[in-house]
Amino acid sequence: MSKLIAPSILAADFGNLQRDVEMVNNSDADWFHIDIMDGVFVPNISYGMPVLKAITKHAKKTIDVHLMIIDPDRYIQTFADLGADILTVHYEACTHLHRTIQAIKAAGMKAGVALNPHTPIAVLEDIINDIDLVLIMSVNPGFGGQSFIENTYKKIQQLKNLIEFSETDTLIEVDGGVTDQNANKLIEVGADALVAGSFVFKSEDPTATIANLKSIIN
Ligand code: DX5
Ligand code: ZN
Repeated sequence: MSKLIAPSILAADFGNLQRDVEMVNNSDADWFHIDIMDGVFVPNISYGMPVLKAITKHAKKTIDVHLMIIDPDRYIQTFADLGADILTVHYEACTHLHRTIQAIKAAGMKAGVALNPHTPIAVLEDIINDIDLVLIMSVNPGFGGQSFIENTYKKIQQLKNLIEFSETDTLIEVDGGVTDQNANKLIEVGADALVAGSFVFKSEDPTATIANLKSIIN
């Protein structure tokens, strides 16, 4: 399978949202990465349902939603109705993670689990066969534009080993501080999909930046 690029809309120009969504549609990108923050689980509030609705109205690619909210069970059906294809919840925000995962799948979406930088891979041992994707945070969630945490490479390798040992095909997605400097190494150690926010949208030519990232990793 080809390796995937998921531009994070958090770094888009919200005054020109349709333009930026069309840019992603017409680029080599694979997914739209959608960061939902509640100001409680993370110290920032991003955007919510009306903005996601405006995005999905124009988006023609997979909608990859990353929930940085407490008690995400309350909104599973809402995100399914809004057109999410993948719904990722944080391990640290779910008391009954297995139940949450089953509810996401029952609502017709692929289920992902995100891990904060301090959370070890081992906590996934008993859930890895039930999930479609693991989102490894390579920054502390809450803000775009932070620097990449180097310990991420080791975690990806550990997760890759767990996935192979468990004989499952869970995807590994990496989120935070991704650039053309670390993309290749992230794929080499086992990542399948890379989120890139600032590096794409703050560049002079986002379409070319996406094409470059895509060629680096494939
Ligand atoms: C951080 C978000 C990321 C963020 C990545 O909490 O989960 O998806 O948008 O942005 P960059 O690529 O700028 O680190
Ligand atoms: Zn994210």
